[in-house]
Amino acid sequence: MIGAGAAGAQPYSAFRVQNERQLADLRAHLQAKGVDTLPSPSPIFGGDAFAVRDPDGRLVAFGLPRADLPSWDRSGFKPVAAALPGRLQHFTVATPALQPMMDFYLDAIGFVASDYVRETGGNRENTVCFMRSDPEHHSFAAFRAAAAKPDHHAYEATSWNDLKDWADHLARQNVQIWWGPGRHGPGNNVFLMCQDPHGYLYEISAELEIMPYEMAPREWDHGERALNLWGKGFLRS
Ligand SMILES: [Fe+2]
Repeated sequence: MIGAGAAGAQPYSAFRVQNERQLADLRAHLQAKGVDTLPSPSPIFGGDAFAVRDPDGRLVAFGLPRADLPSWDRSGFKPVAAALPGRLQHFTVATPALQPMMDFYLDAIGFVASDYVRETGGNRENTVCFMRSDPEHHSFAAFRAAAAKPDHHAYEATSWNDLKDWADHLARQNVQIWWGPGRHGPGNNVFLMCQDPHGYLYEISAELEIMPYEMAPREWDHGERALNLWGKGFLRS
């Protein structure tokens, strides 16, 4: 969704759930955790959608697409967008409150931790947490940083070869690649990242790792290699 507002802001994020039962279960789960459920701000979602407010003040909405939207396949789990060669796959935030954010997303909402990046010294403080809400390695991540802001959002392509096509397309638009191509440690996805005119970072990714629900989270040492196995890292803190 692109709407009127302050450049560089991210008023909310939204996750499509699998079905109405899961949506009701998630609402009951959050209420049992003592989390207030609020009206959903998403114009795409139907009547049962709701939102919660994370520790950085961002709304996180959950729902199912409105029945009157013609382009959605409501018959199964996969939305039509999942078949597209560049679907929105994850978004991430920078936060000065990483531990409260992890507590909220992991313990209250129920995301599953896939990878932690940790300081090599001291008590190995967390610097990044990657979280999944389905078998794809992460649909959300939080980076330790000085201020709360959106970090980047990513579109999953069908293959590494697609990244070349995207890079050529961007070149024709006179858009330079901002970071990459590279391969992330956590998630093992190949990527390139660009910046839009308002400063939002967007990523084209492929080969994102699949992790079964039961798979235990792993740890990476904080440093360039965790962020890019091939070259320079983008360290937020
Ligand atoms: Fe990413």
